[in-house]
Amino acid sequence: MPLDSWAGFGTDLHLDLSAGRARGLGLRAALEDALRTAAREGRLAPGTRLPASRTLATDLGVARNTVAEAYAQLVAEGWLTARQGSGTVVAERGAPSASHAPVAPQRAPAVRHDLTPGRPDVSRFPRTAWLAAGRRALAAAPNSALGYSDPRGRVELRQALADYLARVRGVRTDAERIVVCSGYTQGLGLVCRALHERGARSVAVEEYGLPPQQRVITAAGPATIALPLDEDGARTDLLDGTAAGAVVLTPAHQFPTGVALRAPRRAAAVAWARRTGGVVIEDDYDGEFRYDRQPVGALQALDPERVVYAGTASKSLAPGLRLGWLALPADLVEPVTRQKQLADNQSGALEQLTLAELITSGGLDRHVRRSRLRYRRRRDLLTATLAARAPHVRVTGIAAGLHAVLRLPPGSLDERELAEQARWLGLGLHPMSFFRTPEAGPPPEAPPALVIGYGTPPEHAFPGALDALCTLLQL
Ligand SMILES: Cc1ncc(COP(=O)(O)O)c(C=O)c1O
Repeated sequence: MPLDSWAGFGTDLHLDLSAGRARGLGLRAALEDALRTAAREGRLAPGTRLPASRTLATDLGVARNTVAEAYAQLVAEGWLTARQGSGTVVAERGAPSASHAPVAPQRAPAVRHDLTPGRPDVSRFPRTAWLAAGRRALAAAPNSALGYSDPRGRVELRQALADYLARVRGVRTDAERIVVCSGYTQGLGLVCRALHERGARSVAVEEYGLPPQQRVITAAGPATIALPLDEDGARTDLLDGTAAGAVVLTPAHQFPTGVALRAPRRAAAVAWARRTGGVVIEDDYDGEFRYDRQPVGALQALDPERVVYAGTASKSLAPGLRLGWLALPADLVEPVTRQKQLADNQSGALEQLTLAELITSGGLDRHVRRSRLRYRRRRDLLTATLAARAPHVRVTGIAAGLHAVLRLPPGSLDERELAEQARWLGLGLHPMSFFRTPEAGPPPEAPPALVIGYGTPPEHAFPGALDALCTLLQL
């Protein structure tokens, strides 16, 4: 090994790092893998002195700790030796024989099968249509579109959204009441900040939900209160007994249990809001993806003056776009717009114009139609595969969306053990308890349940992910 040419080795190593990274390894694991391979294959000859961790870290553009920890791990495994004063050296006999190998700390492999709920298959992002829409949008955009403009967002997008949401989700709004934001996450924070300014001290959330959501709400000011759920959805009939100034609901497809909010509960939410001056925040995160029944329309249509409708491109297109929108009651337009201006002045104009063009040209409809078909096929494959290979598992919450709840019979491994075994199988998924709202207290005694996303893996990787899932469920 030409130790005096570290730049060259650094380049090689960097290529190896990329290979590990492409296989889903973290930085440190990729570096360990690269070093191990180089030692095993003899490219790093026994006795070779490795550069100081600081030097290699600079060469590779990684943190020094990453290198130091990778070295320590390889010393533990016997590939390297570290001696005071003489630095880190490739061990004399390369790979240790099994019998002499120091016992390396066991670490779960990296996630190979990502079944994390709530994500779309971004490998199917409509790149060509997006680029074409972007080109058309930029060609048609006035120069003023590139300056600071309305904090609510570009009027082209607000108009396109008003029409689209009316047509697809039954939302009753107009361009003047829409605020474009950086995903649902920002929108929720803006609304909660505006409500807190108006005196709302607490916001009710469903007893199971997206963990970051509670943090977004409390960071905006209000405390959170947990609302129980049953097979008809959130217990909105219990709102009267709370001090909540607002409630966040996922009416079309409760996240993560998957139930739809039944009509009496919808009516109860709106009646509560009218009676108390409260606000319903409707998180319509995957409303476009309903498979079995007539689409469940937006709750907002029951009372546009009491319900904030919140939508996102994170499921229908890609989370990385960071595009979301709020259709607001008239009295919230000004305070929420002010919060948006305080937060970041406005969302990116070019992405907004591109999305507007994609919607008005029919490109979004085409993409959603194709995606719906693909996700539906995956859902059907999931249920058929589990019926054949893990018939003891009940699959629920699958009439819509990109995730399912797998309910195991009593006596199965508990959720924590299942999640741990899943990690060893390289499966990324979450137990139901992960989504428990802390304010709801400990969950009631119930058989274990897992929440899995079937949208995330690219098409070719889905059968492998299902296979690993079945292995887990057969444990
Ligand atoms: C329940 C729920 N709401 C909303 C969102 C979308 O959030 P954002 O638009 O900030 O990406 C997600 C995404 O995972 C979600 O699972």
